[in-house]
Amino acid sequence: MKPTDITKLKHLAQDKISRSANPAVVRNSTVFFKNMQELIKQEDLVKKGTKVSFYEYGRAGSQTTIALENFISELEGAYRTFLTSTGFGSIALAIMSICRPGDEIVVTDAVYAPTRMITSKLLKEFGVKTHFYNPENLKSLKSKINKKTKMLFIENPGSNTFEFQDLSEIIKIAKKNKIITAIDNTWGTPFLIKPLKLGFDMSISSGTKYLSGHSDVMLGTLAVNKKVYEKVKFYNKLLGYRASPDDAYLVLRGLRTLDIRLKRHEENTKRIISFLKQENKIKEILYPYKKGTENYSNWKKYYSGSTGLFSVLIYSKNKNSVFKFINSLKFFGIGQSWGGFESLVLYQSHIIQRVYKKYIKPNHHLVRFHIGLEDPKDLIEDLRKAIKKIR
Ligand SMILES: Cc1ncc(COP(=O)(O)O)c(C=O)c1O
Repeated sequence: MKPTDITKLKHLAQDKISRSANPAVVRNSTVFFKNMQELIKQEDLVKKGTKVSFYEYGRAGSQTTIALENFISELEGAYRTFLTSTGFGSIALAIMSICRPGDEIVVTDAVYAPTRMITSKLLKEFGVKTHFYNPENLKSLKSKINKKTKMLFIENPGSNTFEFQDLSEIIKIAKKNKIITAIDNTWGTPFLIKPLKLGFDMSISSGTKYLSGHSDVMLGTLAVNKKVYEKVKFYNKLLGYRASPDDAYLVLRGLRTLDIRLKRHEENTKRIISFLKQENKIKEILYPYKKGTENYSNWKKYYSGSTGLFSVLIYSKNKNSVFKFINSLKFFGIGQSWGGFESLVLYQSHIIQRVYKKYIKPNHHLVRFHIGLEDPKDLIEDLRKAIKKIR
């Protein structure tokens, strides 16, 4: 019988050697071998890409990081998974493995700021041209593709403005043009959507967020199919990427409860949205909740659930009063991450740099919330009081 993902989250990464429910934390640099022949044999296996239970040197990882690599591969339906020390590291590894001078890359206009910097600043220095396309218009994507286009990088949904794209259509366009595809899937996690099964070549998650879920670790995962595996492996080695075994262990521990946490994040968020919908200062809620919209139908088509990250557009001629609203919230921390157990809030208007300027109209303020695992009654009461500050 094939277990479901819920069961897999509980059973994957049991430690066969110690017979323990969880893998051991193995911190290593040196790995010992019985003799030279054994070392060379292990090097050969790794070179060939054979799945191994230990590496010949700690930079490539230890039993703990291998346990997490295999866990993510199983969840994503991936050929292999690479671990890096941050989600951003995985984004950089994906892009730098593929793009070469003279190539072009097409990127969703909604990507979060650091990805935008990598593509438009770092790649530019390496002679790679970036085109941003409007995630709400597939014609815009098609118009950016030419013979030099090597890669398509999307963030779905955009983690500030929450556009959900028609992913199968995107894959069709990419395949027709022989373009390598990568998705930043941090919002959806491989529990709610499996991008590689839809045809993406690479799927990235910041393990810092929902996978670990406790705001105490930074880590990135890059799951790949067979087609791009060798390329990524090569650059991963040359660039020296690695995740620490302690961090990998914390992500493995978080993964055991991913399903339960996501469900609660979603339930709490829906309750908060029902409240915010009735507030007249809130002009728009950027979350897939409105039936009949394209965002909702694309979310429904590809995701088996939702999470706790969304934005609102607040109308006010007084920006200071929006800051007062944010600052007076008691149960929402002001902080940049998300995906942990705690609720967070951020003013985001000033960081949105887009080619397709649609969202930030005059006197509209983009505020992003992460709804945590607190009692939603407390969160709603908190919001009810604070929202009065908006003038
Ligand atoms: C959508 C998205 N992708 C990737 C990352 C990068 O993750 P990390 O903070 O682990 O580098 C972030 C971080 O905020 C994010 O919001």
